[in-house]
Amino acid sequence: MQKKILIIITGSIASYKALYLIRMLKEKKFLINVIMTKSAKKFVTPLSVSSLSESKVYDDLFDLTDETEMGHIKLAKMHDLILVMPASCHFIAKISNGFADDLASTVLLASKTKVLIAPAMNINMFNNKITQKNIKYLESLDYSFILGNEGKLACGDYGLGRMAEPEDVLNFINIQFSKTKPLEGIKALVTAGPTHEPIDPVRFISNKSSGIQGYLLAEELILNGAEVSLISGPTNLEIPSNLSNFIRVETAEEMLKACLQKIPKDLFISVAAVTDWKVKANKHKIKKSPSVPKLKLLNNPDILKSISSHKDRPRLVIGFAAETKNLEENAMKKIKQKKCDIIIANNVSKTKNVFGSPMNEVNVMNHKGTFLKIKKMNKKKLAKKIIKEVILPSFN
Ligand code: C5P
Repeated sequence: MQKKILIIITGSIASYKALYLIRMLKEKKFLINVIMTKSAKKFVTPLSVSSLSESKVYDDLFDLTDETEMGHIKLAKMHDLILVMPASCHFIAKISNGFADDLASTVLLASKTKVLIAPAMNINMFNNKITQKNIKYLESLDYSFILGNEGKLACGDYGLGRMAEPEDVLNFINIQFSKTKPLEGIKALVTAGPTHEPIDPVRFISNKSSGIQGYLLAEELILNGAEVSLISGPTNLEIPSNLSNFIRVETAEEMLKACLQKIPKDLFISVAAVTDWKVKANKHKIKKSPSVPKLKLLNNPDILKSISSHKDRPRLVIGFAAETKNLEENAMKKIKQKKCDIIIANNVSKTKNVFGSPMNEVNVMNHKGTFLKIKKMNKKKLAKKIIKEVILPSFN
C-alpha cells in the first residue's frame, strides 16, 4: 500500500533541501502532504513545494477551507510517518514543551504517528544545553533525530548542526518502513470498557471501568505490528487508529456475540469489566411509586471462559482481575475457573484509585502464581511493559 508521509518544513537556510527530498520521495511513489511554518515560507515558496509534492500545502490552523476539507486532526492521524525537515532550534524547543500555537505544532501534539526530526541550526545553538535537553527529552518520548555530518554551516561556523542530506533522510525513511515489527502477522482481539445492562429503556447497571487500559493495550499491539480487533463497551475514549475492526457493544451478551465472530487465532485479551449480572429488563420505563421495584438479576455469560474453552481457542488467552482483597488468591482461582493462560490482577480497592485513573499497578500471574509484579506507572507505560514482558516472550 502507498505509504503516506507528512513533511513539516520549518524556517531555515536548509529548507530548500526539503524540496530535493520531496522529489525523491515522489519518485519512490510516497504520498506526501506538507505543512509549512510561517518562517519556512520566507525561505521556500509554497508554490514550489506544492508543485513537487503534487498536493496542497497546509499552513494555517485557522483556515476554514482547509479545516473543512482536511482538518488538523485528520492531518495528524492519516500518515504513516511525520518528518520535520529542517527542524529549527525554535521549533524543537516549542514541541518539547508541548506548545500548539500553529498548525505544525498542533498536528504534532495531536498525532501518535512516528516522528523523525532533521535539525538544522548554528553549532552553538545545537550544542547549547537547552537544545540538548530538548532533544534528549524528545528522544525519550520516541522521537528520532537524523543528524547531519560535521561540516561548514551557512553562518560560517563549522561542526554539527548542519542538516542531514536528503539522501540520508531517504535512507532513514526506508529503514523505518522496512523494519519488521515483532507482532507482525499476529491476530489479536481485545475487549475494553464496562458493559451496560439495561433495567428498562433508560436505566442500566454497570461498573466504574473507563476502558483506558484496554484501548491503550490495543494501541500498543498495533504499534508492534499486530492486527487488532477491539470490542468496546460504552466509553468516551477516542477510537485507536489502524484497528482491523472496531465493534461498539452495550451489553455482555452483545460483547460475547462480537467476540465469537472475531475470535482470533493468536491472542485474546479480556480487559473489559464485564458486568457480572444482567437484569430481567422491563420493556417500558419503570414508574416511580412508593414501593421500591424488585430487580431480578441473572448471570451474564462469562466471555473469557467461553473463549478459553472454545474449540478455536487462541494460542494465548489473557484475563484481567480487579480485586479489592486477597488479590493473588482470588486471581489464582480465576485462572483455573476461566481456563486462561495469564491473569493480570489489579487491586481496585478505594485507596488504589484505579478506575478512570491514568495510573495502574498489577501482578501478572500464570498457573504457578505471580511471575511479574509491575509497580505503579501510567497505563500507557504499563501496556508497553505487558507487551514487552508478557506477550512478546509468548510469541517468540
Ligand atoms: O469479573 P471478573 O473478576 O470475573 O473478571 C475477570 C476476567 O474475566 C476479566 O478478564 C473479564 O474481562 C472477564 N469476564 C468475562 N465475562 C464476565 C465477567 C468477567 O469475560 N461475565
